[in-house]
Amino acid sequence: MEVIARGAEAVVYADGDVVVKHRPPKRYRAPELDEHLRATRTRREARLLALAKRAGVPAPVVLDVDPEEKKLCMSRVRGEKLSRLVGGMEVPELREVFATAGVLAGRLHAKGIIHGDLTTANMLLSGGRVYFIDFGLGEVSTSHEAMGTDLLVFRKCVRSTHFQQEEVILDAFFSGYRSTFAGAERAIEKMHTIERRGRYFEDRG
Ligand SMILES: Nc1ncnc2c1ncn2[C@@H]1O[C@H](COP(=O)(O)OP(=O)(O)OP(=O)(O)O)[C@@H](O)[C@H]1O
Ligand SMILES: [Mg+2]
Repeated sequence: MEVIARGAEAVVYADGDVVVKHRPPKRYRAPELDEHLRATRTRREARLLALAKRAGVPAPVVLDVDPEEKKLCMSRVRGEKLSRLVGGMEVPELREVFATAGVLAGRLHAKGIIHGDLTTANMLLSGGRVYFIDFGLGEVSTSHEAMGTDLLVFRKCVRSTHFQQEEVILDAFFSGYRSTFAGAERAIEKMHTIERRGRYFEDRG
């Protein structure tokens, strides 16, 4: 198999239409903790991918999970990360794509699925569809705190990596999000609260 990506936590291999995400040991963590984290994240990612698909969110199909080996086997999404596409997109396309991303985030939260790392590097555009990947830090929770954190991660990502298109992206995203999630306002309010809390501590830091 050929290596297609080397992330912070995982090495991703591909062969044809199949992708294997392997989490190799991290030397800086105590061995037992490391073992536990890698197995948990592997299992969790498989479970959340399946839940996301059931909620109507395009995501890779889980083909096999091996927590012992820390390997997750899934279908390959042929496409490009939104983080790499944003720079070359015109405003109408940005609006469409990020309204869709917002619709999908709303569907997740409506079913109590927290992504855990909602960034444009974890969204792939393929055949005109937006796919969510990388659920290893996610969880099932109906707390607005967790949802607000998801939203804040996304907003910070857009602010730092796509600052020139920030307004268009965020407007589109949140309008899509509101259209599919009845609790959107509370989650967004929570996002602002968490952000203010962070500022307060940073200023004091
Ligand atoms: N099912 C898939 N189909 C196609 N490409 C994939 C798939 N899963 C992962 N990739 C590619 O591998 C990269 C890393 O995967 P992923 O984001 O799941 O791992 P990660 O280690 O958490 O990465 P990072 O630390 O960069 O967030 C993705 O950005 C994407 O390019
Ligand atoms: Mg990733």
